[in-house]
Amino acid sequence: MASTQQQPAEPYGHLVDPDYYQRSGYPHESWRELRTERPIHFIEREQGDSYWAITKHADITAIGRQPEIFSSRMPVVRDQELVDAPSIDLPQAIITLDPPIHAKYRELVSKRMTPRKVAKLHDDIEKIAIRILKDLEEHEDAGCDFVDTVAAPLPIAVIAYLLGVPADDWRQLYKWTNESAGSSDPENRRDGESSRDTMQRAAHEQFRYFAELREERLANPQDDLVTLLANANVDGEPLPVMDVLAFYQILLAAGNETTRNATSGGLLALIEHPEEMAKVQADPSLLGSTVEEILRWTSPVIHFARTATRDSELGGHEIRKGEVVGMFYPSANRDEDVWEDPERFRVDRKRNPHIAFGVGEHYCLGAHVARLELNVIFRHLLPRLAEVEITGPVDRLRSNLIGGVKRLPIRYRLKPVA
Ligand code: HEM
Repeated sequence: MASTQQQPAEPYGHLVDPDYYQRSGYPHESWRELRTERPIHFIEREQGDSYWAITKHADITAIGRQPEIFSSRMPVVRDQELVDAPSIDLPQAIITLDPPIHAKYRELVSKRMTPRKVAKLHDDIEKIAIRILKDLEEHEDAGCDFVDTVAAPLPIAVIAYLLGVPADDWRQLYKWTNESAGSSDPENRRDGESSRDTMQRAAHEQFRYFAELREERLANPQDDLVTLLANANVDGEPLPVMDVLAFYQILLAAGNETTRNATSGGLLALIEHPEEMAKVQADPSLLGSTVEEILRWTSPVIHFARTATRDSELGGHEIRKGEVVGMFYPSANRDEDVWEDPERFRVDRKRNPHIAFGVGEHYCLGAHVARLELNVIFRHLLPRLAEVEITGPVDRLRSNLIGGVKRLPIRYRLKPVA
């Protein structure tokens, strides 16, 4: 008998549906289909936010490297709840700037983020990580939520430390970043707020907070990012105050949820692949390749969008001026043309050209910091884990921007410190 069920008009509508990600995690099956059959696929959306879904490594790389054709101006994500709003009242930040001004803003901070500069932070980040891991010892009998105990506190502490935010305020920063990056998730909203309200309120509260801190640092300069940007010049002119505040906010938001989810997703992947966990525990020289594989596997940023500034061609398709392309980084990171066995989680991969940190003009400014954090946390955690198991449902974030594990309940036994 013929099915009476109607076919959905667009079978890939779920790719930017935050509810889907909360319910089911990453749509790897759909991404695989698209990579094979329609790697550049136009998704018609009645709501007026139609876009091209780009799923292959080479095409995303081509887009990322041509910022003059594919602009980062708003909207940088396909989110119905935000797209519906006529405009979102936030200043433009580095992530939404295009050449030539983008590079000038980026340069202000990138000097602090080189591998050499970041390596100097190693001892400080290690101290923060060791202190956070101590909490695992305290919860050993009862078990804990790994996100709340380890994965979330580390990135917020590190970025707050780099910015120069006093430790007493780290908890408040943590709340604001959840509200900014995770505003699609009702758990991060106050009663009666829409996603947009939450994002806007959190932004205003952060702006007020950082405006005061900026004033304080102008009077009492320190060796931190708040002071550096407060005194920054572009083309011989001081950076406008609102741009400085937006810069603080983007650094905070960009470095937080992403690293948190690589950490929690990384542990989850290791628990789900015990033979891989055993491999890296037996051979700590695999830590570097483990971290890269965690980044590839978890790919915490789901998508970013670009808008075509003129008619152009991509992989045989005509992309018209004004059309939007959505780059699905986690799909690129399972591309069969780049990895032989992309669906396998392997801690000893030799070659791993993942683009979890993006590619081209907007390549992640915090990539070295994030790598250091992941290295430090797993270097201290893995040798101590005698046993670990998941004891309850793994809750996911409602978002189409960040693939997030909100709760990862675990029980474990720790070995004594070596
Ligand atoms: C595992 C952790 C992280 C992941 C997966 C990640 C991922 C990304 C991605 C995919 C982009 C490109 C966005 C685009 O395509 O437009 C990006 C940009 C950025 N990230 Fe990260 N990030 C991480 C950690 C961090 C950290 C720790 C910081 C800060 C210390 C940071 C700061 C930034 C900034 C400022 C940008 C914008 C760069 C620009 O527009 O030129 N990220 N990140």
